Order: sequence, then structure tokens, then C-alpha cells
Amino acid sequence: MFSDTSFEQFQESIGGLTDLSTGSITLVTTTLVLSAALAYRQLCGKTDHGKMPPHIPSSIPFLGQAISFGTSPIEFLLAAYEKYGPVFSFTMVGKTFTYLVGSDASTLIFNSKNEHLNAEDVYGRLVTPVFGKGVAYDVPNPIFMEQKKMLKTGLSISHFRTHVPIIEHETRDYFERWGLDGKNNIFEALSQLIILTASHALHGKEIRACLDEHVAQLYADLDGGFTPLAWLLPGWLPFPSFRKRDRAHIEVKKIFRKAIQKRRADPNPDDDMLQTLIESTYKSGRKLTDDEITGMLIGLLLAGQHTSSTTSSWLAFFLAKYKDLQEKVFEEQKQVCGNSSAPVDYDQLKDMQLLDRCLKETLRLRPPIMTMMRMCRTPQTIMGYTIPPGHQVCVSPTTNQRLPDAWKDFDKFLPDRFIDPEVANSEKFAYVPFGAGRHRCIGETFAYIQIKTIFSVLIRKYKFSLVDNYFPEVNYTTMIHTPTNPIIQYTYRDHSV
Ligand code: HEM
Repeated sequence: MFSDTSFEQFQESIGGLTDLSTGSITLVTTTLVLSAALAYRQLCGKTDHGKMPPHIPSSIPFLGQAISFGTSPIEFLLAAYEKYGPVFSFTMVGKTFTYLVGSDASTLIFNSKNEHLNAEDVYGRLVTPVFGKGVAYDVPNPIFMEQKKMLKTGLSISHFRTHVPIIEHETRDYFERWGLDGKNNIFEALSQLIILTASHALHGKEIRACLDEHVAQLYADLDGGFTPLAWLLPGWLPFPSFRKRDRAHIEVKKIFRKAIQKRRADPNPDDDMLQTLIESTYKSGRKLTDDEITGMLIGLLLAGQHTSSTTSSWLAFFLAKYKDLQEKVFEEQKQVCGNSSAPVDYDQLKDMQLLDRCLKETLRLRPPIMTMMRMCRTPQTIMGYTIPPGHQVCVSPTTNQRLPDAWKDFDKFLPDRFIDPEVANSEKFAYVPFGAGRHRCIGETFAYIQIKTIFSVLIRKYKFSLVDNYFPEVNYTTMIHTPTNPIIQYTYRDHSV
């Protein structure tokens, strides 16, 4: 049931718990007294530094608000905002969450230092077994910042110019299998396509060449590591999904390492992300190890995978619902690129302004990352409240981006609201689908390029409609809010246009 090391760890921790010397009895007593005092202070709503945020009560011990929040998190947060204001706390599965709602309250997270509101403490357990050691949340934040800078170098305009034909080619190739007309699962299709496009554009041709069904399954197993269970429980526990994740991690790393060695031996290497990482150095002058490069490549793939496939699926459904808008997007495509067989290039993407606004509005109403989270390590004061260490401090783009006080017609899909650039910037953190501050996304431009290229092909090829007028419900059971039953209807547009 346990591996040797985890069994030893298990024995050690059991030993630690059962071996109660006089010293440890004193320690336990002191801890109990301190905990009781802390609980009393929480009930009184005071910390050493000031008033605590209002706490939403629950009659269910330990689980707390888990069921209400889990069933419809956005409605829960908006109702709490109405009742308690922009800063409030609640308990779920034994943890206290403090949400900061709206632009002003959100400044606390986005302007904070990592040592005060910490990302590794909340994301590390989930991410490190998937990406591996030595990267992202497994290293001190200044090192991760250097790694992000290296990745940004690989996301340059000259690289984007080469990405567009790669993505176009993969999209045309993939959608051949859809034929002329029919009904199909658009989310599944876009998820599969985006693994191919991202792997080709961001990993390079050597890794793309290895991408067969077996490797796709390994990626799925790795990805299966991103579950609430993995966030809540230690990674060494013997759950099948944890074991699959760990096996997949070892195999994927092996495949990537081989590709890196092949690239290092290539006398005429491509100028791409992989090459950028191979040539990158830390400030200290040290180069990235193969292990660090493989971790960063896994990170690149998975950071963009669900975020982009979910966003593009919602975009397809919004266009299928608002047919007039879809026709305008199609007209724009004809003007910018020509008929459905004409190629698309990087410069043309900039002229697809209506498509751009549709994507922006999709990211407003359906941002894939529903909550950004940090662990409060030192007392933090905002709007007259002091958040004590131990709270998980959260900002939800989904909530900020549909607050009636910040957004006119907040629940309507109105892409033209972004014609006025002030709309998104009127309040600094009212629109944050890619986050802000030191943890801000580095993949925004790539995501726009990828999704716009895919839609340039799809909208010129097909007319999309809802099936029986069904616009998908949001699936709140997944960590990223995907569309439920995402079947779309498509009809081939005439080649002669
Ligand atoms: C529609 C697509 C995407 C959306 C909506 C999105 C959203 C986000 C958000 C909200 C964050 C901030 C997380 C936080 O503060 O806790 C983030 C961070 C990040 N994203 Fe993205 N992302 C997208 C695509 C991508 C892509 C394509 C890549 C890579 C090519 C990428 C790489 C990253 C990285 C490296 C971070 C930094 C995490 C940190 O510093 O802690 N993302 N993203």
C-alpha cells in the first residue's frame, strides 16, 4: 500500500504522535490553551492588530460552507458581497477563506509581497507533483521569477510569427475529421487540438513528433493530478489518481529529456521556446538543468491547456447563441484573410478586432481561473479589517468581472463594451482574467494568438448553432469552470465565399 519511503515517513509521524514524553505533554497542553484562546478571539472578532473580517456562520462543523459554495460559488460570493461587503471570511473543510471582492479590496493580493501573501503555500502541494521539483512553486519565489522571465523571452513576437502557421495547420488538420455538418463535443475537440498546438508551438517539433495516443494519455494522467483531493491531502497517500500522476510524471520527463538531448546535438536548432530555455541562464550565470527544462515545459503545456480550451469552448457557444454577432465576425474574417482556404498570419490577427472583443468579453463572463489564492503569513489589513495568518486569501475574477457596481449590463454578452478602452481600466482590478502583480500570467498574448488563429479557421469553415437552443450550464464540479454537455451544431460554409 505504501512505498518504502512513505511508509517510513508514516511510521515517523505515528511515532511522533504516540511517544508522549512529559515535555510533549506540556507542549500539547500549551497548544490546547493557545488554540482555545485563539478560538475565543476569533469568536470575539478581534486579532492582535484589529477587527477581523465578518465570518459567514455555518451550522455544519468542519465542512462549513463547502456545500453551498461548491454548488454555486459565484452566486454564493455575490450574495455574501451584498450582505457583508467587500471583505468576508468563511470556513470550508477546516480551512478559513477570506475573499476580497471588487477592485479596491483586491489591491491587497495584487500589490502584496510573496512573503506576506504566499502562493507556494497554497499551490505547491497541487502543482509540484505534476511539474516536478526545482521549478515554479517548489523554488523560492525570486527563482521562479527568473524562470518566468526566461519563459517570457521564449514568448517573443518573432516566435509568435512562427506559431500562427503551426496553429493554423494543426487546426485545419484536426477539424478534417468533423466533416461537413453535424453535432459534436466542441470542448473535447478543442482540448485535444490545444494539446497538439501548444505542444508543437511551445515544446518544439521533436516533442510534437512523439505525441501519440500513449503520450496524450500520460498528459491526461498528469492533468488528473489537479484535483481538490490533491490540494487537500498529502501527495504520498495511495490514491490511484496520485499514483497515475506520479508514473506519468516520470515517463513524460523521460520523453522530454530525450528530446532535449536530441536538440542539444542538433547543429542547426530551431529558434523556439525549447532553444530559448536551453540557452537561458540565471542571474548567477548557471544554466537550466534538463530536469528544470522538462518541468518548465510541462508547466507551459498545462498552464495553457484547460484555460485556453475552456475559454475557446465558451467563445464558440457565445457565437453560436448570438448568430448576428457570429456573422459579423465571419465578415471580419473575410475582409482580413479572404475565403476559408486563405492562410492567416500574425499581422492579420491584430486586425481581427471584433473577434478580439468577443474573446475579451468571453474572458469577462467565463474566466477559466475562478479564484486566485494566497496563504496569509503575516497579519494583513484592508478596508479596516485585519486578516490573521493562516487564512487563505482569495480574489475571484469571475466575481469582480460581474459586479453590478463596476459593470453596466453586467450579465450580458456585449463585446462592444470594450470599444471604449476605459471600460476595462476604469477600476484597476475590475477585469483580471490573467491576474495581476507578481504572479500575473505570462501566457496572455500566446493565448490570444492561439485562440484567434483557431477561430479564424473555424469561423470561415463552419457556421455554429446551439443544439435545441441549449446554452451550456457552468460545470462547477471541475476546478476550471467548463461547459456542461458541450455539444455544438456546425454547418459547412460555402467554399466560394
Ligand atoms: C486563456 C488563457 C489563460 C488564462 C485565462 C490564464 C490565467 C492566469 C491567471 C489568472 C494567472 C494568475 C494566477 C494567480 O495569481 O494565482 C496566471 C498565471 C500564469 N499563467 Fe496563465 N492563463 C492562461 C494561459 C496561459 C498560458 C498559455 C501560459 C503559458 C504559455 C500561462 C502561463 C502562466 C504562468 C507561468 C503563470 C504564473 C504563475 C505565478 O507566477 O504564480 N497561462 N494565468
